[in-house]
Amino acid sequence: MKHVIRAQQFNKKVLSELFSIAQEMEIIVKSGGSNVLAHRVMATLFYEPSTRTRLSFESAMQKLGGEVITTESAREFSSSAKGETLEDTIRVIEGYADVIVLRHYESGAAQRAAEVSDTPIINAGDGAGQHPTQALLDLYTIKKELGKIDGISIAMVGDLANGRTTRSLTYLLGKYDNVKIYFVAPEVVRMKRDIEAYLKRHKIKFFEEENLKKICKEVDVVYQTRIQRERFGERIEDYEKAHGKYIIDKEILDVMKKKAIIMHPLPRLDEIKQEVDSDSRAAYFRQAQNGLYIRMALLKMLLL
Ligand code: CP
Repeated sequence: MKHVIRAQQFNKKVLSELFSIAQEMEIIVKSGGSNVLAHRVMATLFYEPSTRTRLSFESAMQKLGGEVITTESAREFSSSAKGETLEDTIRVIEGYADVIVLRHYESGAAQRAAEVSDTPIINAGDGAGQHPTQALLDLYTIKKELGKIDGISIAMVGDLANGRTTRSLTYLLGKYDNVKIYFVAPEVVRMKRDIEAYLKRHKIKFFEEENLKKICKEVDVVYQTRIQRERFGERIEDYEKAHGKYIIDKEILDVMKKKAIIMHPLPRLDEIKQEVDSDSRAAYFRQAQNGLYIRMALLKMLLL
């Protein structure tokens, strides 16, 4: 694997290997880090805002002894503001870095970057396309929290049409056995047809559900997502229809299984009430922490 562009690239064997390395990384972090990536340079090139992805990648590189060069708000602070193409920017940065982590506002941007780069490109989210490293840390979280991935049932809730995290996670879950997926989304942001076709092809059971409370009684994972205002453009009415329809609160907690977990890629707005945070089933901050270990493991896999 040279570039990390989409979740479908990973098979179960590679995922298992990655999770083993991530476990090692948890120990390495506790013991103060390592120098295995000394003298390697990672460039983070972010055209869209980020807290978790950029900072966990940068922390991951530094905890392995590597160096980081970065452009956040790249639309404004890189030469993109002067009209430079993404392809030209990548051709230049590949001369400065050993790996490029790219977040972009257009679906397909990471693929375009990979086509002109000999340096590994990691897709850190491309518009409403994919967010493969988020899906890796999501799957790692499920494995850690529930002890398994085969046989789980999961409700994906919220903005599924624009949700690059749920798209990527669905592709990964499709590689496991007896997984059941429930899509719970407002009508205007239903899961897209291409993902449903993929699930049919791979004989994965999936269902569209309207009643969140009913489905939360049954599933092992409730994967809540934010309704992404920034993806609606002028369609304010559609945003209003979607926003606030599905909220995780104490009432939902009361019906969930005792061993189930609530996940969220974050950031959250009001779709998970703060009253949920103190419940042991609220796994979203542990999930964000796992991003560090998974990204350390991925950098090690790609660069050594
Ligand atoms: N989950 C996620 O991608 O968060 P950021 O947008 O903060 O990176």
